Amino acid sequence: MRKLLIAGNWKMNCGPYDAAELLEGLISQKSEVDENVDVLVCPPFVSIGMAVKYLYDTDIQVGAQNIHFEENGAYTGEISGSMLAESGCNYVIVGHSERRQYFGETDETVNKRVKKSLEHKLAPIVCVGESLDQRKSDTHHEVVENQIKAALEHVSNSEILDVVIAYEPIWAIGTGETASPEQAQEMHKHIRNILTNLYGDEAAEAINILYGGSMKPANARDLLDQKDVDGGLIGGASLDAESFSEIINIAEDLV
Ligand code: 13P
Repeated sequence: MRKLLIAGNWKMNCGPYDAAELLEGLISQKSEVDENVDVLVCPPFVSIGMAVKYLYDTDIQVGAQNIHFEENGAYTGEISGSMLAESGCNYVIVGHSERRQYFGETDETVNKRVKKSLEHKLAPIVCVGESLDQRKSDTHHEVVENQIKAALEHVSNSEILDVVIAYEPIWAIGTGETASPEQAQEMHKHIRNILTNLYGDEAAEAINILYGGSMKPANARDLLDQKDVDGGLIGGASLDAESFSEIINIAEDLV
């Protein structure tokens, strides 16, 4: 049985002081979590240390929002996989649509980052999802399939078990507009079928597929209740300790 994974993507919010305040709020509500639910926060790089320190004694894990694909060297401004692992991260978000849209991330660099994450035992959360135009022109299935195949190139049958996929329709990110539970389930099933074709049934059944895009306490239950929705990648609502804890409570209720 797959666990549910509730992951907060803080994006470019919360330096160390604000992070401490948010984490204190979160810990006061939710330091222990049901064993069938994994909880993760992904702060900006400068607040990872603070998060690891605050969450040391809790069931909440820490991840990063990006990773560079080279090991080390003259890459000004970049952060390597060994640095993230050494800092206490277990996960890393890779290929978020905001990175593809604003920072020139391509399918090829996403794949390199996935490979580097796996090398450092950081579980990559690989983000895929279509734009509004692509959905309107009915190419969303093909777009997502191409993104997944490119991101997972040369990922082995054993490595795939550490990969998490996040389906984040771009039109639902930060817009308040959510995919309906039916739309989410339909795309998640499509993604699981792609994984079955690539890695077989058993692996595909074991992989977590998260939904992201305006998930909040009011819609989390219906989304998380879908058969192939195995958690959420939550932006805005993860910046509020009460909302994020409420989503965790809903997940605990469903497992
Ligand atoms: P919102 O929850 O703010 O829509 O963001 C979703 C997201 O992009 C998570 O990675």
